[in-house]
Order: sequence, then structure tokens, then C-alpha cells
Amino acid sequence: MAPTPHTILGAKHLLCPLCPPCETPNAADRLRPSTDQRSLVCAQNHTFDIAKQGYVNLLPVQQKKSLTPGDNKEMVLARKKFLGLGYYKPLVNTLVESCTHHLSTRQTETAPVILDAGCGEGYYTDKLHNALVIQHPDLTTYGFDIAKPAVIEAAKRNKLLSCFVSTIKAVPVATQSCDLIISVFSPMQPSQFQRLLKPSGNLMVLCAGKNHLHQLKSLLYDNTSDYDEDKFLAQMDSHFTLSKRIPIQQTMEMKSNHDILSLLAMTPHFWRTSPEAKKQLDCIQQLAVDIDVQLLQFTPKPPIAQDANNSGT
Ligand SMILES: C[S@@+](CC[C@H](N)C(=O)[O-])C[C@H]1O[C@@H](n2cnc3c(N)ncnc32)[C@H](O)[C@@H]1O
Ligand SMILES: [Zn+2]
Repeated sequence: MAPTPHTILGAKHLLCPLCPPCETPNAADRLRPSTDQRSLVCAQNHTFDIAKQGYVNLLPVQQKKSLTPGDNKEMVLARKKFLGLGYYKPLVNTLVESCTHHLSTRQTETAPVILDAGCGEGYYTDKLHNALVIQHPDLTTYGFDIAKPAVIEAAKRNKLLSCFVSTIKAVPVATQSCDLIISVFSPMQPSQFQRLLKPSGNLMVLCAGKNHLHQLKSLLYDNTSDYDEDKFLAQMDSHFTLSKRIPIQQTMEMKSNHDILSLLAMTPHFWRTSPEAKKQLDCIQQLAVDIDVQLLQFTPKPPIAQDANNSGT
């Protein structure tokens, strides 16, 4: 029996990360499946193999700032372990609800495309795809992350996701091809996201509010105020308009030391705090920890003419 062709072979919006972007984008500039269906290939014959886990590495060496960019394997597995405990379900539910609403109010019949920028190990990407594909069986879901260990986990999690190693600073995806871009606790690249979105598309950002995990932080630090929403919104302003803000505020009742340490291990605080501060958590068996997250929904501003030349930056 012939093997089932991998989902990634059906991805229609991918560009070659090695070729200069076409002045007048058209279907001929896209990556296509190779004859043996084991790789993606461009018109200049640049070839990108499909790894056995089902992802493709589209990060050229010259875009790598280190040998292993992004989160390392330990961070990725820590995040996977904590997210698997289900405490962040309210975040998923809010994201799914907003994305479902956006897709159901589209004025077009074209197959919807969503892209998770900085998808990590694919927890949100997977949940979102599974929820949206019921209404939209022709949905394409892309997951992009610069960390190879993260992309491996995302690809293993759900064979119906199209997962790629790539930087979000130069996403090799055609201009105006996405209905939704998702960014969950990941770095922002407003000019790229504006380029990738259809004019009617939306950007959904999940970001931490000032009280997020404050009980955990106050056990670790003397001063916990590191949040500057104005600065965040200012960086978005030339490319996006904030159209909706949904606060997600709940308390996680953590009932075991295992869960508390799993939460710590997946946050950047794990790497910032001293062994002495971490040790304090060893004897805590219960902790109420606040989730204070915002879902920010943005609509893209029309690109200004000169941006067309800078779209890869
Ligand atoms: C805090 S994690 C969030 C992951 C995932 N969205 C989640 O919430 O589970 C941030 C992610 O951004 C990725 N990242 C950092 N810089 C990046 C870049 N320039 N391009 C793509 N991904 C990047 C990291 O590798 C990491 O997986
Ligand atoms: Zn090429």
C-alpha cells in the first residue's frame, strides 16, 4: 500500500528562503513537492527535505545567530509537560473562540489559512487546528518556530499541521496569504505579520498582563514589575490597529509540588533565579497562582508603498 502523502506536501503558500522574493509574486515562486515526495523544491532546485518527524527546516544558515537558536530541548519539554497538565485551558478556549468567530465572519469562500508564529511545541497550534477544522475541513495550519526541538515536538503532536523551522523575521510564506496569525507569548515581528495577512486577516496575540503568575514571581524576586504595555502597543502601531482586547483572569489552584515546579520550569524565571530562590519552592505543596493574560486582536493597516521593498526585514 502506498504511504499517505504528508500534509506538508499540500502546503501551497511556501516560498524558497534562499531565492530573492519575486517582484510580482505568483504561483511559480512557490516551493513544490519533489518528484519522490520526500522534499520541497523551488524553481532554482533548492531542496528542503521532509524530516522523518514530518517537519521541514527552512532556516538558512546565514539567518542563524547561534548553532541552536530559540528555546532548547529542556525548555521545550518543560513547556510541553506543564501545558499537558491543562492549567492553561482558559487561554486555549479564548483563542479558539476568537479565531472561530473571525473565520465564520469572513466574506470569502477561499480555504482558510492560519499561521502560528513562534509555535513552540505546538500546544496551541494543535488545539486550534482541531477545533477549526471541524467547520473548515480545507483549513491549512502552519506552525513556525526557530527552535528545531520545538518544531520536532509540534510535528509529532499532530500530523495535520505543517511545521517549519524558520525565523519569524523572514517567514518564507507568500504575501497576503493568511487569514489569521497567532502569536502566543512569542516575539513580535509586526512588519512581517502585516505582510503575511490578507487585508481582511487578523493577528491574535496572547501576552502576559502585569499580574500574570505574580504569586510565583514574588516567591522568587523582590521586585516583580517588568511589564510595559505601552511599549508593546507602540511597536505595533505603525502596522496594526488594536480592535479588541479580551482579559483572561483566573486563579490556578496548584495542588502539588510537581505542578508548581513544572510551572516554574517552563517560565523564563527558571533560568533567571538563583538556586537558593528555587529551593524555596521545594517544600511548597499548594499554591494559588493567578493567570493574567490578554488576548489582543489586531487588524492590519494598509501597507505603505515603500514597505513593499522591505518586506523581508
Ligand atoms: C515562550 S515560547 C512560546 C511558545 C508557544 N507559543 C507556547 O506558548 O507554548 C517562545 C517561542 O518563540 C520562539 N522564538 C524565539 N525567537 C524566534 C524567532 N526569531 N523566530 C521564530 N521563533 C522564535 C522560541 O523558540 C519559543 O519556542
Ligand atoms: Zn530557491
